Amino acid sequence: MNSRQHQTLLLLLLVCGGGAIEIISTGIAVGMAAALTGFLASYPNIFYYFHECCRAEWISFNKTGLQADLESQLFGQHIASRIILKAVTGFMNNNNPKKPLVLSLHGWTGTGKNFVSQLIADNIYKKGMDSSFVHIFTSELHFPHASQIETYKTQLQHWIRGNVTNCAHSMFIFDEMDKMHPGLIDSIKPFVDYYEKLDGVSYRKAIFIFLSNAGGESITHTTLDFWKTGKDREELALKDVEMSLSLAVFNNKNSGLWHTSLIDKNLVDFFVPFLPLEYRHVVQCAMAEMEARGLPPNPDLANQVASELTYFPKSDRVFSVKGCKTIESKLDYYL
Ligand SMILES: Nc1ncnc2c1ncn2[C@@H]1O[C@H](COP(=O)(O)OP(=O)(O)O)[C@@H](O)[C@H]1O
Ligand SMILES: *[C@@H]1O[C@H](CO)[C@@H](O)[C@H](O)[C@H]1NC(C)=O
Ligand SMILES: *[C@@H]1O[C@H](CO)[C@@H](O)[C@H](O)[C@H]1NC(C)=O
Repeated sequence: MNSRQHQTLLLLLLVCGGGAIEIISTGIAVGMAAALTGFLASYPNIFYYFHECCRAEWISFNKTGLQADLESQLFGQHIASRIILKAVTGFMNNNNPKKPLVLSLHGWTGTGKNFVSQLIADNIYKKGMDSSFVHIFTSELHFPHASQIETYKTQLQHWIRGNVTNCAHSMFIFDEMDKMHPGLIDSIKPFVDYYEKLDGVSYRKAIFIFLSNAGGESITHTTLDFWKTGKDREELALKDVEMSLSLAVFNNKNSGLWHTSLIDKNLVDFFVPFLPLEYRHVVQCAMAEMEARGLPPNPDLANQVASELTYFPKSDRVFSVKGCKTIESKLDYYL
């Protein structure tokens, strides 16, 4: 190890090692680093055992990886796939974004909204969803009681501020956004707005992802109408779904999103529609699940699992009611 690596190591210890080392005098720290150097020379991989930190070693966007994952692992979502790749790439390649990236993913249950969030995290953070810079909030889990809304608001703002202060490249995922109290959504607003800084903290490099079923029904109607024309699903374009999505999201007075100023202030950068999944996609999900478990591919089993799910509308039985959601447990039953 030369002296430059030596310095880098010391710096890493100071930046990532936490508070304890910072208060030790430099002399001792240098001594410790010298002792560690010998240790590290014999165990080069020990580096990876260091605590995750907010640096390029742990956080760097892999466009090739995201593209490959979206193409090979996400089924039946050609529109969402394209928007996500463009949006995330554009944002991550911009060194000076004017605001945080805000994506709002909409669609029927079990169609891949959580899954896509995971693919995005996997290709930004070394530790993917396990990264300490990725935060998931579920209304039922984190904010269950409407009566405590004021407490939740304060807590959520506190968390977001604290986490972004620790690491500008933080990611916040809000699941079941449509079940979230509008007041709570409003409390996120300042963070996703075009502010240079808010109380000395810049939120411009953070990513916010909202997941909801809002608009799912109208996306399904549009997709079903398209299916009935006999055309290839891949020919369905964003503009075909966009109208039904925006009508459902903007004009639905029961949707939490509608009540908030997130939408009318144009703070959401992309509304991403997720299409309902067909039988063939469910078969693909089952095959993928087998592969993930290290099992040999078994198309018969995949078909068996897929045919046990329920499909709608009753007349045509085109789309899976739960998308790919119950595949895992169905497979367990057969194995
Ligand atoms: N379009 C898809 N392509 C591949 N796998 C999918 C897809 N949709 C769902 N899945 C699988 O089903 C599981 C549940 O989907 P999820 O992303 O949680 O649905 P949602 O968030 O839209 O309700 C995922 O973990 C994934 O394994
Ligand atoms: C990016 O992803 C590709 C495809 O998964 C992978 O082969 C490559 O090693 C990754 N690059 C980095 C720098 O991690
Ligand atoms: C970051 O967010 C988590 C919730 O995901 C919270 O528990 C934690 O206290 C926050 N950290 C800070 C420093 O605010």
